[in-house]
Amino acid sequence: MKLLTSADAATELATDLLAVALGTDLSGLDALDARFDGHLRPLAEQRKFEGKAGQSLLLPTLGRLPASHLLLLGIGAGSAAEKADAAGLAGLEARKLRAATLVLDLGPEAPFAQALERLAVGNYAWEAYRPEDQRTPALEQLTLVGADGTDLSAALARAEGQRAARDWVNLPAADLYPETLASSAVETFAGVEGVTVEVWDLDRCRAEDCVGILAVGAGSARPGRMIRVSYRPATPKAHVALVGKGVTFDAGGLSLKPSASMLTMKCDMGGAATVLGATLAAARQGLQVAVDTWVPAVENMTAGEAYKLGDILRYPNGVTVEIHNTDAEGRLVLADALIQACKVEGVTHVVDAATLTGACVVALGGDFTGLFTSSDELASALDDAAEVNGEGLWRMPLHKGYSRMIKGTWGQIKNVGGRDAGATTAALFLQHFVSQEVEWAHLDIAGPAFADSPTGPYVAGATGQMVRTLASWLEGLAR
Ligand code: BES
Ligand code: MN
Ligand code: ZN
Repeated sequence: MKLLTSADAATELATDLLAVALGTDLSGLDALDARFDGHLRPLAEQRKFEGKAGQSLLLPTLGRLPASHLLLLGIGAGSAAEKADAAGLAGLEARKLRAATLVLDLGPEAPFAQALERLAVGNYAWEAYRPEDQRTPALEQLTLVGADGTDLSAALARAEGQRAARDWVNLPAADLYPETLASSAVETFAGVEGVTVEVWDLDRCRAEDCVGILAVGAGSARPGRMIRVSYRPATPKAHVALVGKGVTFDAGGLSLKPSASMLTMKCDMGGAATVLGATLAAARQGLQVAVDTWVPAVENMTAGEAYKLGDILRYPNGVTVEIHNTDAEGRLVLADALIQACKVEGVTHVVDAATLTGACVVALGGDFTGLFTSSDELASALDDAAEVNGEGLWRMPLHKGYSRMIKGTWGQIKNVGGRDAGATTAALFLQHFVSQEVEWAHLDIAGPAFADSPTGPYVAGATGQMVRTLASWLEGLAR
């Protein structure tokens, strides 16, 4: 896509779609109205467009402007957040309109970087498996009015990271399984400066005692993998590890899921996609923060070799885990990765992302990621990052008292608690595999990772939420 930053009057630009932001004062409407011989204002009134945040009005210009369509975007009081939201809507409307060119005028002092990222969110479509003549043509040219001289390279990097994450999640499990996720990671990072990718096959996983990958992956014809992406800039200001759940399909194992719950379980590598996308964004920007990204990749299936209820896993840190439900598999493979992540010299922060529990979806729905951490500092840094990126993040209790719910009978812990506080007991489980020396946060993205139907700026399918939040957090550490 070609990116232009024009200073010209937006109304004079030839384009498929001209999107203009208007606040509740509707200043700016007069100038447009004049071009429509005074017919625009009554139309806006009739359609109840009052410039409120979230409102929009799309109309054909029928030759009154060089643009073919005009989109009025409500931005309420005109805050940066309202303008960023409007940009998301512009991206979405451009996609629906199949626009090849878009001019976006957010008025003075627009948050151009955020606007560009949000526009990309709304404009995203995943059509790789659709007949070619039914695909939405890509946006070829975007003009951000007034953005002259603004450095948008970081925004482009974050947008690329989020798009990559969405593409990975949307790929069906028949095509994206541990080996292909690994090769896709290798391919994606090839030639990205400072990045090396290492893929552990089953022999290596055995040598490293990745008991979770070995157990959960045993029921699948597709062998598991541990993927490690290391990003080492020249002068890092910090060293962090990211960990992402990479269950490329979650049938539930022998504790088989009902069909309806299984339907979208290709999304169960959403955590992996999130951390890989964030790492890509960081590396593309050349952020001065060292990152180790770990992805335990498996399929949770039911073949004859499948791991069983009553099995007891012994992790290399000494923790033993009773299997009470093979559908609580994510935490088992994340444990392998958390152990590895904490072992790396110099790592001070570990953040994992995982489509971990249905309980988190019940608690927070699709608009919020659950945040679990005992570090107030890390919580507030992540919270700030989520806020600027317009992504929902809500802190949940990492309540020690509930450890009683996952106490084992024969082993130290079991892999499920009861129905109560399921997202918290999952987080408490993970904590057993994090060393005391690091600050750790767990993001349960089970709700937002995948949208069953279009929601807000997101088309149905993968949303890529938390990619930009994590990338912004990394950016903060690199300063
Ligand atoms: N991958 C699921 C969690 C999930 C549910 C992700 C809905 C996205 C949408 C996870 O592996 C799982 O099956 N969790 C179980 C845990 C239970 C057995 C303790 C669940 O949530 O039911
Ligand atoms: Mn499961
Ligand atoms: Zn799962």
